[in-house]
Amino acid sequence: MILPFLKAMNIVVTGASSGLGAVFSGALVAKGTIVCGLARNLDKLNMLQKQLGKAFIPVMMDITDQKAIADWVKKTFSDTHFPNILINNAGVGYFNNIDELPLQHWHDMINTNLNGTFYITANIVPFMKRNNASCHIINIGSILGKTTRPDSAAYSATKYGIQGFSEALSKELSSYNIKVTCVNPGSIETHFFEQSGIEPHSNMLQPNDIAAFIIHILETPCNMLIDEVTLRPLQPKMKTVELQVPSSPVCYANSCEVRKEFRDEELFEVKFVPTPIKPNDKQN
Ligand SMILES: NC(=O)c1ccc[n+]([C@@H]2O[C@H](COP(=O)([O-])OP(=O)(O)OC[C@H]3O[C@@H](n4cnc5c(N)ncnc54)[C@H](OP(=O)(O)O)[C@@H]3O)[C@@H](O)[C@H]2O)c1
Repeated sequence: MILPFLKAMNIVVTGASSGLGAVFSGALVAKGTIVCGLARNLDKLNMLQKQLGKAFIPVMMDITDQKAIADWVKKTFSDTHFPNILINNAGVGYFNNIDELPLQHWHDMINTNLNGTFYITANIVPFMKRNNASCHIINIGSILGKTTRPDSAAYSATKYGIQGFSEALSKELSSYNIKVTCVNPGSIETHFFEQSGIEPHSNMLQPNDIAAFIIHILETPCNMLIDEVTLRPLQPKMKTVELQVPSSPVCYANSCEVRKEFRDEELFEVKFVPTPIKPNDKQN
């Protein structure tokens, strides 16, 4: 009989009160794990526990509070109760020109995305090192930790940081049987955009799909490491309309023009296909 791989594992998910973290928690509880969900908003965490049941343990925590994290890890885990998986998901993003970015937003991003990730990881790792079972740390980076946009200097600084943090940590911890994976998603349909200063778009990744993918990463065999993954939203498939456009024989040799157009709120790819003008046509 093959045992369910994740069953009964102890998992810590930061940023569990909304968005990706809440969806990860639901998917992991459904796999039979025990999830400690950390976030500042206890009401939201308690509401999630009502949906998911006792296997989801709400933990009111500001991950920028180093002492609170150290105290919680010390009182929660021991040499008879090890954490198996840590998902560093909590994060904030504000997008603005560098000379217009409020100082507080810079500090919030550095403190949450980088310092918070460091605090919890540094406190959990000693327990993972003493755990004989394989352990896994998943860091949620971003596509903006691989590339940038003009207003993302501060956010990208934190997510490029997560990328480097993950890569070095993976090298440091592999001999302890601790895997480290950095997941870099493009835009996802969550509350992230509400205060970010950038517009959401109609074609974002879905949190459920990311959660299913994270489960897949966690369930890979012990001897296989996925150290880095980038996930991008794809344009939806479009219907193509071809329009024949009369053109001279010279133009006919050129590639056809393609334009995207909304027609009755549906996106179409319109191909303007040149058709050669015959000498007779010209005379008419
Ligand atoms: N949405 C996207 O397009 C996108 C794309 C790429 C990467 N990401 C990354 O994905 C991760 C999750 O974001 P999301 O899209 O799910 O956004 P979200 O819906 O805004 O969720 C963010 C979570 O982080 C928690 N959080 C923020 N500051 C915290 C702190 N100081 N201490 C503890 N928890 C804190 C929030 O909970 P409380 O407010 O209750 O503390 C919330 O649960 C972030 O790291 C983000 O950078 C998002």
